[in-house]
Amino acid sequence: NDQEAFGSLKQQLAKLFEESLRVTIPEELDADTAIAACQNPRFGDYQCNNAMGLWSKVKGKSTQFRGPQPIGQAIIKNLPPSEMVESCSIAGPGFVNVVLSRQWIAKSIQKMLVDGIETWAPKLPVKRAVVDFSSPNIAKEMHVGHLRSTIIGDTLARMLEYSNVEVLRRNHVGDWGTQFGMLIEYLFEKFPSGEVSDQAVGDLEAFYKASKQRFDSDPDFKGRAQRAVVSLQAGVEKYRKAWAQICEISRRGYEKVYQRLGVHLEEKGESFYNPYIPGALELLSKQGLIEESEGARVIFIEGKNIPLIVIKKDGGYNYASTDLAALWYRLNEEKAEWIIYVTDVGQREHFEMFFTAAKRAGWLPAEDNKYPKASHVGFGLVLGEDGKRFRTRSTETVKLVDLLDEAKNKCKAALVERGKDKEWTEEELEKTAEAVGYGAIKYADLKNNRTTNYTFSFDQMLNDKGNTAVYLLYAHARICSIIRKSGKDIEELKKTGTIDLAHPDERVLGLHLLQFAEIVEEACTNLLPNVLCEYLYNLSEDFTRFYTNCQVVGSAEETSRLLLCEATAVVMRKCFHLLGITPVYKI
Ligand code: ARG
Repeated sequence: NDQEAFGSLKQQLAKLFEESLRVTIPEELDADTAIAACQNPRFGDYQCNNAMGLWSKVKGKSTQFRGPQPIGQAIIKNLPPSEMVESCSIAGPGFVNVVLSRQWIAKSIQKMLVDGIETWAPKLPVKRAVVDFSSPNIAKEMHVGHLRSTIIGDTLARMLEYSNVEVLRRNHVGDWGTQFGMLIEYLFEKFPSGEVSDQAVGDLEAFYKASKQRFDSDPDFKGRAQRAVVSLQAGVEKYRKAWAQICEISRRGYEKVYQRLGVHLEEKGESFYNPYIPGALELLSKQGLIEESEGARVIFIEGKNIPLIVIKKDGGYNYASTDLAALWYRLNEEKAEWIIYVTDVGQREHFEMFFTAAKRAGWLPAEDNKYPKASHVGFGLVLGEDGKRFRTRSTETVKLVDLLDEAKNKCKAALVERGKDKEWTEEELEKTAEAVGYGAIKYADLKNNRTTNYTFSFDQMLNDKGNTAVYLLYAHARICSIIRKSGKDIEELKKTGTIDLAHPDERVLGLHLLQFAEIVEEACTNLLPNVLCEYLYNLSEDFTRFYTNCQVVGSAEETSRLLLCEATAVVMRKCFHLLGITPVYKI
């Protein structure tokens, strides 16, 4: 069926060239088909770069070819007829440049308008993936790093879901470990009756700090806390209950952030994998990977100075043993083919080490281009405008909910200043302020290459000019209003009208729209949301150029151009959706 047949534009071209390569030089079939978009549009839209590589392989052997250009010529000659291609030419040492058919671009866009943007989903080589993201630690602060992880992880999950991958969205919360002994003991001290209310615990972070202080200063308390860990791990009812209470209060805190951001996650915290640790370590042990070192059980990793500790000196498990068990569970119980971890770059070493251990154990293939695969998606710091680690004025740490509220309130104020409170209902005002405010925070984060640090600035992210969510949301709303004001029934036009891309600016816009699938594919493959942001921003620029140079309403090409407006709006909305941003329709 058609949906099956699609794949991205690049994938379709690759298929076509593959057929040609198969007959051009049948004995060199293993070569990958190298298709890339042309850097300079003067040469064409895409190029196939196989001729040069093939020449170096057959040089001196072939009686048929005398250089890379003739191979290029043969590739062109052997290309099966296709309505995609208008013309091909050879450039330089043997690049085959392709000019796509304008009619075919137009037809593909029109088909998408009728069948839906879902038909443009790229094809990925996996069926099921785990995205492990957000993952704050119970009773400790949920800081901007966790906000970044939440925003980036959600986008990656959305892009994979769009590409028909089943995604298990996992919140790997830090809900286990020795710190719970001290928290539980402190809870008992504060609430001897066992009746704990949220209010009474108040700020969990402060509660954590107070209990830590007790732990560090009172040896008696420390002893009790250490015994509490043992009781908790043994499953003693009273301790289990206290632990569950602490987790629940903490959970309600970060749920507020997820709810505001519209992010869905399924919690499977560290405690969940605890029962699987002995089994996982047993497997590694049988393969001789675990050794004794200074009283601890460790795995030595080639090229690393310190080994990966999997059982501490005191016999306890740690972050690494939990992650090994979780990896085992995700591969074997959940049958995930791709496991993606979103944390700050500071944890890179940890991931590298346990991925290497898993490879040595044969849980993962040694080659990085094979599946199942584990990937660490590292991101940089959030900086304040002073260039230091981001903090708000009021408190030491950033209260994430306050941050989100502030963005929304600023947007609301800007709307009121523009008199929107007189035009719109209170609900419209609220909804728009939320969409723009939260969207601005997400986009400001996602548009940067995730590995770099970025500066948090309300002024910048809420600017309605430049590469911001505000600008893009308004650009989309403007397109919607062009269509509305034309007075035409766009649903009807989709069925009866045709798109023509006669003007060069129309063609550029059309081709850009059609490249959506390969951009999502690239963003997924390299786990880089900024690739999609860049595409979206360029799309809005291509649209502006088209709209400036081509009259839409009242022109002879009105129908075609309105359809092009609609297609742009549809693709922009899909980008927003994948970035977790709610589109607005009025400005
Ligand atoms: N809780 C950790 C932190 O706050 C992040 C956990 C990431 N996931 C994992 N499987 N290690 O840094």
